Amino acid sequence: MKKLIIANWKMNLSLTEAQDFVRALKRSAAVKQSRAVIAAPFTMLVALGKQTKGSPIALAAQNVSEHLFGAYTGEVSAKMLKETGSKYSLVGHSERRIYFNETDDQIREKSLRLLEQNIVPVICVGENAEERRKGLTEVTLSRQLTKALRGIEQAQKIVIAYEPVWAISTFQKTKAKKSATPAEISEAHAYIRKVLGELFSKKSATAITVIYGGTVTAQNAQQILSVAGVDGALVGGASLNLESFTAILNTK
Ligand code: PGA
Repeated sequence: MKKLIIANWKMNLSLTEAQDFVRALKRSAAVKQSRAVIAAPFTMLVALGKQTKGSPIALAAQNVSEHLFGAYTGEVSAKMLKETGSKYSLVGHSERRIYFNETDDQIREKSLRLLEQNIVPVICVGENAEERRKGLTEVTLSRQLTKALRGIEQAQKIVIAYEPVWAISTFQKTKAKKSATPAEISEAHAYIRKVLGELFSKKSATAITVIYGGTVTAQNAQQILSVAGVDGALVGGASLNLESFTAILNTK
């Protein structure tokens, strides 16, 4: 199975820059090496949906409302995302949990709304620095997964992104950003699979795509993607540059 590589552009790029990026990416042989996904801001989804239609590049939203429709000013529903051609949506990214107080219950509701529209929720989980220091990594991952996945039956239609908060470039104060080590990633992914095996069947748990995110770069992608149990990467900073993103897509 090819690796799932998701570019999380966050709140960056203009529409013109995004379209230039996608135009060049479509021409690059790298899009055939991995399953390439672009998670773009809402305002770009319609245009990028048209641009990527029929290409190997899939589109993702970065967030979705937990409500079906109605008086929720500023929100975007899963049904609206469906119309843009989005195949995936991030859910519960740590920036949303931390800056916008998103809860595990909201993350579950959002995931359910996406599944109703046949959009794959990319559910982000991960401990923060303090939880890791206190030895609470597994407790945190177990809580986040159990709460987010309660009531979800289509195990094969979800993606889990393990993103230790302390390894995401945004939350690192130092100039030199550090990803988690292969050993840390391997341990967390094995634990996530174990929890998934308890929540679903062992067989379904093995089939779920589990990707890693947190300072994935062109330099460390090879090392990270070769860790057993890592099915892909969620890439923030390094996805804004075509050269580094294609290098990650090309990683064998
Ligand atoms: P980063 O971001 O690659 O810049 O650490 C990853 C993410 O926030 O998803």
